[in-house]
Amino acid sequence: MEKLKLLISGEQIAARVEEMGNQITADCAAQSVVFVAVLKGAAIFLSDLVRQVPLDATFDFIGVASYGNPRGPKQEKIWDSTGEVRLTKDVEQSLRDQNVILVEDILDTGLTLSFLKRLLLGHQPRSLRVAVLLDKTSRRKLPVQADYVGFSIPDAFVVGYGLDYAEKYRNLSGIYVLPTAPVGP
Ligand code: IMP
Repeated sequence: MEKLKLLISGEQIAARVEEMGNQITADCAAQSVVFVAVLKGAAIFLSDLVRQVPLDATFDFIGVASYGNPRGPKQEKIWDSTGEVRLTKDVEQSLRDQNVILVEDILDTGLTLSFLKRLLLGHQPRSLRVAVLLDKTSRRKLPVQADYVGFSIPDAFVVGYGLDYAEKYRNLSGIYVLPTAPVGP
């Protein structure tokens, strides 16, 4: 196992997710909401977040993949996307006239979120808000922002709490920096 360095503990995440849930609850008071989480990374964040929002709520999942080199901690070599994102799984319920909250694990270059916002707006929701757990503002290529941000983090490759490297580490309770990559994805 590579050396992982703790960045955000499970306790810190829980406290922040509770605050985000309270904010969403206040902003959407007395309305129904549909949470749409991006697979697989946002699944754990979604499950904690929805339990902090005591509104009339449902949730759904959407899947995307990006073309380009596999992502990883060696940013200069393999952490490079072509900017093309494609849908691998669409939502299963109608979003028309719904208050939609898109739930994403991490906002990095903004390519994925721009794609998803455009896609979801095509469903003609009543409102569309975005909640991200982590935001790497310094890596942004497109001027896209989230309405709710858990933590702004430095430019490092992170894993845990749903985030993976080569499908590993999703089950960790905290967020960790993965300093070096094993050979290959
Ligand atoms: P963007 O399109 O560049 O904003 O990237 C968003 C997606 O890249 C996220 O949903 C993650 O799947 C992935 N990603 C970006 N940074 C990291 C990271 O540090 N660890 C794990 N996945 C990441």
